[in-house]
Amino acid sequence: MRNVNTQSVTAAVKSTFKCDNERIEYLLNTLVDTVHNYTRETKLTHAEWREVIAFLTRAGDITDNERNEFVLLSDVLGLSSLVDMVNSPAGATESSVLGPFHIADSPALPIGGDLIGDNPGDQVVVYGTVRASDGKPLAGADLEIWQTADNGLYSNQDAQQSEFNLRCSQTTRADGQYGFTTVRPAPYTVPADGPVGTLLAATGRHPWRPSHLHFIVKADGYRSLVTELFPEDDPYLDEDAVFGVRESLILRYETCESLSGLPITFAAANRLKSPFYTVHFDFTLVPATT
Ligand code: BEZ
Ligand code: FE
Repeated sequence: MRNVNTQSVTAAVKSTFKCDNERIEYLLNTLVDTVHNYTRETKLTHAEWREVIAFLTRAGDITDNERNEFVLLSDVLGLSSLVDMVNSPAGATESSVLGPFHIADSPALPIGGDLIGDNPGDQVVVYGTVRASDGKPLAGADLEIWQTADNGLYSNQDAQQSEFNLRCSQTTRADGQYGFTTVRPAPYTVPADGPVGTLLAATGRHPWRPSHLHFIVKADGYRSLVTELFPEDDPYLDEDAVFGVRESLILRYETCESLSGLPITFAAANRLKSPFYTVHFDFTLVPATT
């Protein structure tokens, strides 16, 4: 391995990898190919290389248990969404980014339960069915749901909100239904006070995401789904900072004055301020073997 040159260095590096795990070796070889090709193609300068290292160092410095700037970098470069899309099985509801604001162990909410409590904002009735890809309703599917308050902040970003405000878990009924009342989430910015924020500003981009409801949906024997639902009238639908929007995840917040005809009884039915919105979305899971 003497006298490597701009071409032979790539094979030289790859020949050093002797992994027990074939997949890891393949991923490393392909990474070296890609990064070396990038460097040859762009004729990356020392100053530019140093800037990349300094950027990654700043990302490491700001990363802690609460905040991961590398995940955010992956998000704003569309990498997280690409990983979602290449792993989204045909026939299932499309997946979308998890984001950094999920908290495990949200309290269980009965079907038709209320998340509005004292939260200000437009009131929304959300309901639907979890089904298998053959159309069969899935009883006992577990959902986790989380969202921002009307001020665009998640409970873990806002000292004014209780720990599990606007978060819950639900288990579908025998007919696969889930449903709850909540307030309309607001658009918000991804954390922009670190190196990723600097990158966005330096590239003429803004940090806004369209408003959304987050869901994790799981059922025994089926592939788990992490996804988000977006309102069709959100101003940021076509410029999501993290590229999470999919056409199939956009829905209408229907203005409504009565709950009659809905398949679920809602605990807050008599307290809702009319007009409110209804949001209907059915999730589809595919078998785990898919
Ligand atoms: C979110 O949806 O909560 C989110 C996703 C990616 C980056 C930041 C926030
Ligand atoms: Fe979010």
